[in-house]
Amino acid sequence: MSAPLIVLVGPMGVGKSTVGQLLAERLGTGYRDTDEDIVAARGRTIAEIFVDEGEAAFRAQEKEAVRSALGEHDGVLALGGGAILDADTRALLAGQRVVYLSMDVEEAVRRTGLNVARPLLAVNPRKQWRELMEARRHLYEEVATVVVATDGRTPDEVTRAALDAL
Ligand code: S3P
Repeated sequence: MSAPLIVLVGPMGVGKSTVGQLLAERLGTGYRDTDEDIVAARGRTIAEIFVDEGEAAFRAQEKEAVRSALGEHDGVLALGGGAILDADTRALLAGQRVVYLSMDVEEAVRRTGLNVARPLLAVNPRKQWRELMEARRHLYEEVATVVVATDGRTPDEVTRAALDAL
């Protein structure tokens, strides 16, 4: 029997890949990440795609990456932080076990700082984080079956909380 799929959503820097890999290890299953799938398929970084092709083009590629991964993978799947912005992508998540890893704005600023590899945070991280969280929080909550707060917790503690909640 194949392991059930667990989808991780949440803002960039919240620890989706670290916790996702720990979760996969504990469950004895595989880990996959749609950002990595896109980079591998395109042979370009996410930042290059954003700059050269624009965010809308990236979201379209992301939707297809989520669709493929949901069809092919049965372990732990981490989505990019903005994947939930697309209504079709949110619809793809209906009926899945979706864990929302949450953090507050100050934790987000502390964890990501000035990260130029993340194009959405390049200018004024605190202001941009506040706007991002306001625009997205309800969308994460809409797709989530479980919410795990990560503030002040280590990846191990978050992983344990997610396993308890699942
Ligand atoms: C994004 C999050 C990133 C990546 C891209 C856009 C976002 O993924 O998909 O930079 O819109 O929040 P991570 O959450 O894995 O950093």
